[in-house]
Amino acid sequence: MSTTHAEIGHNRTGIGTAREFSDAMLEGTSEFLPSAVGDERDIARVREDYAKDADPLGSVPPPATLGDAVRTAAQGIRGLRPTQFIDKLGERLAFERSGVRLYEALLSKFSVFGSFEGGPTRDELELQMREEYEHFRMLTEAVTSVGGDPTVVTPSADLHATMTKGILEVMVDPRTTFVQCLEALLVVELADNECWESLTELAQQSGARELATAFDAAREEEAEHLENVRTWLAAAQNRPGE
Ligand SMILES: [Fe+2]
Ligand SMILES: [Fe+2]
Repeated sequence: MSTTHAEIGHNRTGIGTAREFSDAMLEGTSEFLPSAVGDERDIARVREDYAKDADPLGSVPPPATLGDAVRTAAQGIRGLRPTQFIDKLGERLAFERSGVRLYEALLSKFSVFGSFEGGPTRDELELQMREEYEHFRMLTEAVTSVGGDPTVVTPSADLHATMTKGILEVMVDPRTTFVQCLEALLVVELADNECWESLTELAQQSGARELATAFDAAREEEAEHLENVRTWLAAAQNRPGE
């Protein structure tokens, strides 16, 4: 079973595998015309109409608890857009929770395919998974500390969950190899790095200093995750890497 290379096989997705039928197929496009008049401009118009009328992806609820939590929130979030901060906190929380699940799925691939020369050990993958979990725990406390409800799916959490759907599909597809799943993980870690940086900045701007320090530590761990995944993929592809 190959873990690092695509194999030669009977791939018939290209037109070149059946030249004799390709001309007939092209002829068919003039025989069977589109069933509706118009072109892509009409499609764009429909998209625009829907976008104008649609509800937003969701909203950020008011603080779940009253009293101390609200006071903390008022002290903790001095930024001009506290709702945005809560939205992004909810986003990262959900992403880190999904991140643990993604690592679990990746570990299943590891169990089947094993590693490769220059690839990760199970311990290394498990360490990164635990760090994702710790980030999730830390964010749960952070959301609570600013008077939010950590179980809420904020609009940005929803957005990121949809964006990550394809990655999850790759990870749990029985046909994908360990290395292919590492490629999916690279996309996760790239997004994660970017988002931890902006979250740290938002915390600093909001005057939430303690949170900013904790987020910066998470950001550093995420930078290491990314570096590691890049190195493993370079090894899988026989590249020297950086
Ligand atoms: Fe993460
Ligand atoms: Fe990570």
